[in-house]
Amino acid sequence: MSAPFATAERIPATVPPELVREVDFDVLTARGDDPWRAVAQLHREPPVVWMTEANFGRPGWVLTRNDVITEAFIDWEHFSSERPGMIADMLGEPVRLNPIEIDPPRHHHYRRVLNPFFTPKAVSHFDEPVRLCCRELIAGFKDRGECEFVDEFAVPFPSYVFLDLMGMPRDRLDDFIGWQDELMRAPDPMKRVAAARAIYAYLKQHMAAQQANPTNDFLRGMVTAEIEGRPIDYYELMGMFYVLYVGGLDTVYSTIGWIVHHIATTPDLQARLRADLSLLPQAIEEFCRAFSVVVTHRQVARDFVFHGVPMKKGDEVNLPIMLANRDPAVHANPHVVDIDRKPRHIAFGTGTHNCVGLHLAKREMRIVLEELLTTFADIRIKPGVTPRYHTGRTFGFDDLPLILD
Ligand code: HEM
Repeated sequence: MSAPFATAERIPATVPPELVREVDFDVLTARGDDPWRAVAQLHREPPVVWMTEANFGRPGWVLTRNDVITEAFIDWEHFSSERPGMIADMLGEPVRLNPIEIDPPRHHHYRRVLNPFFTPKAVSHFDEPVRLCCRELIAGFKDRGECEFVDEFAVPFPSYVFLDLMGMPRDRLDDFIGWQDELMRAPDPMKRVAAARAIYAYLKQHMAAQQANPTNDFLRGMVTAEIEGRPIDYYELMGMFYVLYVGGLDTVYSTIGWIVHHIATTPDLQARLRADLSLLPQAIEEFCRAFSVVVTHRQVARDFVFHGVPMKKGDEVNLPIMLANRDPAVHANPHVVDIDRKPRHIAFGTGTHNCVGLHLAKREMRIVLEELLTTFADIRIKPGVTPRYHTGRTFGFDDLPLILD
């Protein structure tokens, strides 16, 4: 892939030549048959490098170590999240994903609205609906003894959970699953835009109904929120609805895919977890460390020098979280998945924008595994098939054919 950038833009004069890497991040991460080991080649590079194709053909900085990635997450004054919105572009409306595309101090006003509804206790109310979602999806393939796990479980699952979270009726479930699939996987950008707009139209209608008559405390909390002493406005609220949708799609689908792939290829671990489901919370911490699917990004807020490297206002900075969580300086034998290691990881980010949905996500993953492990005595990859995956902003499986006994 060649980038639509002139050489001068791809390698600005301010970038020290010894830090320039004329490689495409996505090509590098897709090398070989293990993207986690492929991306880890960057641990041999300096902590900060400039890639001519760092992000879908765009040039930018790539941070390669746990310490610098963590520092960038925390230092929001230099590494800004205020950025032209991905969804805003597709919608042609000024919807800023809220709070992920907003810097402090404004960020805190929005985050304060969401936080009380995402504590471990608050999200425990979703255990039952999430379990029912799992059972419904598993019922679709249980008797067949096999499934294509991405299509039949990992992709639809986040839509099921979102509808429950947002108090939306199930009658639009099929539409949502279709839109989600198009938004995440359609090769044709126009199809992705059409899906983003269909979701917007539906969220708009749901938002108006909730403003008139909120159906649960969470929705009441959002639609009646006050931001600096005034009622939350239309685009702020829409940004919040929308981020709760997109925040839990790719991330959940991708992480679940890698975890299920791992247990399907490590029968001993699978048997150990099945025999003692109380190990699941610690296993999930390790799975999140080892399969940290997100490459997030920031923009340099003003010219400054970061670890001896001159950065310019507006430079894009990529934070591949998998590089932080597989950094050998922090985690011994980082490519070994060891559920007994109790890792401190940043799979859900850290600092200001750390994931609001992390407790919900961990409970979702625990329930998914409980249901799969108790329903099936043996889960394995379909013989003769090599599951396909993609890298990019998230690392995820395109297909995952399983045999289930
Ligand atoms: C395994 C699943 C998940 C992973 C790996 C994950 C990962 C992340 C990461 C890395 C960030 C920080 C991004 C940044 O700083 O640029 C983040 C933020 C966020 N996530 Fe998640 N996430 C997951 C599930 C969810 C779910 C289920 C929801 C929805 C309920 C959600 C909603 C959000 C929101 C709203 C933010 C922005 C927080 C802020 O800006 O203050 N996430 N997530």
